[in-house]
Amino acid sequence: MPKTFFITTAIDYTNSPPHIGHAYEKVLADVIARYHRLKGEEVFFLTGVDQHGQKVQQSAAKAGIPPAEFVKVITQKFVDLWKKLHVQYDGWAETTSDRHKKVVQGILQRLFDAGQIYKDKQAGYYSVRQEQFLTDKERGADGQFGAEWGEVEFREEENYYFRLSRHKEWLLSYLDDRKDAVIPDFRQTELRNAVARLSGDLCISRPKSRLNWGIELPFDKEFVTYVWFDALTNYISFAGYDPSLSAFNSQPSTFRDKWPALQIIGKDILVPAHGIYWLVMLHAIGFTDDQMPQLLVHGWWNLGGAKMSKSAGNVIDPFVLADKYGAEALRYYLMSDIALGKDADFSEERLVESYNANLANNLGNLLNRTLNMVQRYCVGSLRKPRESSKLPADVIDGYRQLVNEYTAATVSIYPDVVIGRSLYLASVFNGFIEAQSPWTLAKSSKPEDREFLEDLLYDCAESLRIIAILISPVLPKAAHGIFDQLNWKIELSGREERFSLADAEWGKLADEHIVGKPVPLFPRIQE
Ligand code: ME8
Ligand code: MG
Repeated sequence: MPKTFFITTAIDYTNSPPHIGHAYEKVLADVIARYHRLKGEEVFFLTGVDQHGQKVQQSAAKAGIPPAEFVKVITQKFVDLWKKLHVQYDGWAETTSDRHKKVVQGILQRLFDAGQIYKDKQAGYYSVRQEQFLTDKERGADGQFGAEWGEVEFREEENYYFRLSRHKEWLLSYLDDRKDAVIPDFRQTELRNAVARLSGDLCISRPKSRLNWGIELPFDKEFVTYVWFDALTNYISFAGYDPSLSAFNSQPSTFRDKWPALQIIGKDILVPAHGIYWLVMLHAIGFTDDQMPQLLVHGWWNLGGAKMSKSAGNVIDPFVLADKYGAEALRYYLMSDIALGKDADFSEERLVESYNANLANNLGNLLNRTLNMVQRYCVGSLRKPRESSKLPADVIDGYRQLVNEYTAATVSIYPDVVIGRSLYLASVFNGFIEAQSPWTLAKSSKPEDREFLEDLLYDCAESLRIIAILISPVLPKAAHGIFDQLNWKIELSGREERFSLADAEWGKLADEHIVGKPVPLFPRIQE
């Protein structure tokens, strides 16, 4: 078992700036990473950027600047966005870095020496404009290649190929043996079916005359490696993998302590990239079945039922949304309005509505009214209930079940479920306040009313303390805000260690604990 929970995301293409889909994936990974930190586990969260390739070379040429300069500008936009959205990673992958190049070349050389890579000639129709070979799939109904391909010529080209088909039987048996190789299940089935249809090997190079923005093949200087060995290997090169050592067990402990990773990817890059090429690449360089990563495949955000695309001009800019509504509002929306694994439709209107209803009117209101009443009726001081809590049994049971399930989640949490149920707890306490009307109790001169009022306010403050812990992976800033206002663990203010699942135990606020002054946590968004 690895000592460190290792989580990765896809590395984002640097041919264009980040959009909301990129933001979703990184926030999702950040939430899962924070969840594991909350459980007290060591976490290594790796994300980064995919900087080589044809698309980048083309975009840079269009912009009239060298590719290296072009990727620097776009890379900075990703870095800025992660900072803005509080995506807190431990490792950063840039595929143009020297460390990465060395690993890629070391792996390619080893596979070449082992006879897993060979040179072959391909002949076919080639689109000069799109810089790619065309197949019959690209022909129109009339049998011709459409105008979008521009000039099409017959070409012969030599390239290097990786013996993918040699590993097909292994991959089938691996997928049959390991039921949770891919999450959710239906994606594993989809992958299994694609592997069964697999034929042929994988072209892994481009002649430098066509593509020079890439990593040179160590055994042939006329070629660069194309996409697969360049991008996928980031998951091990930035985790300390040493390509000169072929046995997994001789790898440095920094690598062995982390591997295998939980890898978060979008549905478009499961087949064939991660589900086939990546698993086979790992198998070919000596990783055993136990060392195969687990793939967590998320769905896509669409717009008005259609795919977002730069060419259609319907991409959602996460910078604009974060500036307008704040990082927490955007994180909350992205984690709550999509079911993990499924697609969803992005809606700014829903973002505003759901923020106002669930954060402003529910959680924000509970914090505000609780602290106000503690200030007004109890001079800011909580009194711990003398007997056992007077909370209704179903409230206590609901709370216990929520915390238990939350603690028990192994691989990851389902952010939409967790945030939904945590906020439900807030609505239960809001309902409790309304039903018991503490403002009436405060006017009573009966000692039992006074005691009930104090118990009630203590329970509300406790619920807020626990909700803050449970929502902290999704809403870290709000969780700090609640802790600050409750005046809880104030010495750790702003620090990650402030939150621990071990603290989600009822009754930790001490007798005579003094709470802070209420400050609106989620000001309503005016439409
Ligand atoms: O695929 N909704 O990069 P990329 C949700 N560099 N997720 C989306 C999305 C959307 N609308 N659009 C994209 C690449 N994504 C390669 C990966 S990995 C070794 C190489 C997700 O910038 C997409 O599914 O096109 C992928 O996981 C990630 O964003 C990066 O996409
Ligand atoms: Mg893509």
